[in-house]
Order: sequence, then C-alpha cells, then structure tokens
Amino acid sequence: MKILFLDQSGKPGGAELCLLDIAKPYRDRCLVALLADGPFRDLLEQHQIPVQVLSSEGIQVRKDSGWRQGFGSLAQLLPLITQVVQLSRNYDLIYANTQKALVVGALAAWLGRRPLVYHLHDILSPDHFSSMNRRLAVTLANRFSSLVIANSEASQTAFIAAGGRAELTQVIYNGFEPQIYQSSNAEAAQLRQQLGLEGQFVVGHFSRLSPWKGQHVLLEALAHCPQDVMALFVGDALFGEQQYVEQLHQQVNTLGLQKRVRFLGFRSDVVTLMKSCDLIAHTSTAPEPFGRVIVEAMLCGKPVVAAKSGGAIELITPEVDGWLATPGNPQQLAAVINLCRNQPERSSAIAHHAQIQASQRFDLDIINQKIAQLLGQTLARVPQV
Ligand code: UDP
Ligand code: GLC
Repeated sequence: MKILFLDQSGKPGGAELCLLDIAKPYRDRCLVALLADGPFRDLLEQHQIPVQVLSSEGIQVRKDSGWRQGFGSLAQLLPLITQVVQLSRNYDLIYANTQKALVVGALAAWLGRRPLVYHLHDILSPDHFSSMNRRLAVTLANRFSSLVIANSEASQTAFIAAGGRAELTQVIYNGFEPQIYQSSNAEAAQLRQQLGLEGQFVVGHFSRLSPWKGQHVLLEALAHCPQDVMALFVGDALFGEQQYVEQLHQQVNTLGLQKRVRFLGFRSDVVTLMKSCDLIAHTSTAPEPFGRVIVEAMLCGKPVVAAKSGGAIELITPEVDGWLATPGNPQQLAAVINLCRNQPERSSAIAHHAQIQASQRFDLDIINQKIAQLLGQTLARVPQV
C-alpha cells in the first residue's frame, strides 16, 4: 500500500513524532508532505523517509480562528490542494495527521478520488479549539474521511461530542520502541554530574513551553517542597509562546527558585535526560489528548505523575503505575513529589511495574500492525477509481 502522509508542521511536536514511527514501515512506498518546513523534515530524512515541503509559509488558520479568517485562508489553500491532488495520483490513500492537513487532505482526497484517513491527535473541545475550528474538523472528517484514528478514548469522545460520526472512529494509542528507552544508567549518571544535579531530588518536565502545558504549576509546587527538590524543564516554546516563557522566568524570581530550576530548551536526548531525573511530572491544565511524555517516562523506568484529565487517565492507574493529580493544583502535585522523595523504594517499585506494562501496551510493532490492518480494511471498503 502506498501512502501520502500530510502534516501541517515543520516542528517535531508529539503528533509529528508519532507520524515518524507510523511512516517507518512505509519508507519505500510513501511520501510525507509537509505544509511547513522545519527540523521535522531533517528528522524524517535522517530516518530515510521521503519528504516534500509543499509551502514555505505556514497556513494562517489558528486554533482560535473565526469563520471570516477561515474563509480567507481557504483561498490560500487552493494551490496546496492542487499540489496534493497531483501527488495523490501516485498513492493509494491520503493520511492527514493534523487538523490543517485534514482541511487540505479532505478536499484533495475528494477531488483526486482517494480514500482519506484522519489521525486525530487533538481533543476537539473549547479548551483547545474555537467553535469554527471544531465544526470545520468534524464536518470535513464526517464528509470526506473513511477512517478516523483517535489517539485516545478522550480524543474519540470529544470528537463524537462535537458531532463526529462514531462509526468512523478507532482508538489507537501512540506506539514506542521499548529498546530505545533502555540506554545505560551510566550515561544518565554522567549527565547528572555535568548538569550539577547530584544530591538533588530532580523533577523533570518534558514538554514545549506553553500555558496549557502548565509549567507554572510545577514551579508553584516546588515552593511547597523541601530545598533539595529541583525542577528541570526540557522543551522550548515551539509556537511563539514567548510571553509565557517570560512569565515563567518571572515566577522563578518571585518565588526565589533561581537555584532550584533549570530550563534546558529543546533537546533530542530525552531518554538520557529522563533517566537523570528522579520523577517526571506532566502538568497540563487542559485535557491532554494522549501525552507521549507519560509513556516515555514509564519506558525509562521513572516514576511519573500526570494531570488527571484527558488521555492521561487512560495511561495511568494511580498507585499502580504512577500518580494522578488534579490539573492546576500545585499542592496535590507537591504531595506526590514529596511522597516519591520520601519513599524511593515504593516509587521505584511502581515505576518498574509501569515499565513492564508500558513496553507491552504501547509496543510500536503491535500498534503499527493494527494501523496496517485498519488501512487495509479501509482500502478494501472504499472503491478505487
Ligand atoms: N520532546 C523532545 N524534546 C524536548 C521536549 C519534548 O523531543 O525538548 C518530545 C517528547 O519526548 C515527546 C514529544 O516531544 O515525545 C511531546 O509529545 P507529547 O505528546 O507529550 O506532547 P505534545 O507537545 O505533542 O502536545
Ligand atoms: C498531540 C497531543 C498529545 C499527543 C500527541 C501524539 O500533539 O497534544 O497529547 O500525545 O499529539 O498523539
């Protein structure tokens, strides 16, 4: 089967990293078409996955756009749609991986008479999207797609609640290669020394810097923890959230946390960094659609605490393979941090259990087999022209 993957972003966010893994088995018979250039293209090239950038300018539909802006940008999309229609002639199906890719992919699939699969990585709720964007996504998916792969039950439920057709949907979690997370602890110990983290209880936060990812909640929680507890923020503002970054630095100063907080920016050595931490915290204040970092922490054998909402609830059974804290509640988060600091044996037993479970539940080979099966069924159902 030949697949034309479409993604809106040139930046390697979670949806793009998930796509990278899905595209790997098709590298000799697929193309990833990106609507914007950036380091994600390099990443695909490093993995020998064919990639083509369709436009050097990002499409101007924002998550909070209204109908007027929406129609304006539709005109800008026409040249892109034409390109995708032409490309699609060499492929059996179009696989739209993000919302803006859905807009282009839906019209191109209709004009080029190709089946469309939509991988839904988002929770289509007012927390994340304007009503125009929710209606647009649901209308296009309902009308033009043959399959909607939701990255969690939470994303599936929100899609259906927004008017999406339930029968189109299948839940498929992100897949991971467990062996990637088995790097040696010696490397982590070395990094810990280089970063000057020895003798500290290090709470790692791995996420782009963005208000809804809730880095401020962890800063607030630190103020309720003993002095040897510090936070390591790994990730950058990927989508222009500079104001939030300044706000975080100000908060560090106001709370007097200068010596207990490190911002490392975007890093590609996430595994070694996670292994250098004592606990990984996920603190999203709006429901997280899936939350790759939660599974990655588990695969690294590290205890993890996540915000109790969205997909995170499906990933963690509290006290069995991690902890959940009420979103936006720094006191509850601090209580879990203190528990893990004070009871290292209990928390590492939970982390060990989570590691075993996660390496079976999210195994990339099995997840990719499920996707291949669904795509095969979709192709068999939709008549080819
Ligand atoms: N990540 C990374 N480098 C960083 C910060 C994050 O490679 O500096 C990765 C992280 O390991 C995870 C992804 O970015 O695989 C973020 O995905 P997630 O689903 O957690 O959140 P998203 O940002 O997609 O909402
Ligand atoms: C999106 C979501 C994130 C999810 C990722 C992969 O980026 O925000 O929660 O883990 O897609 O599905």
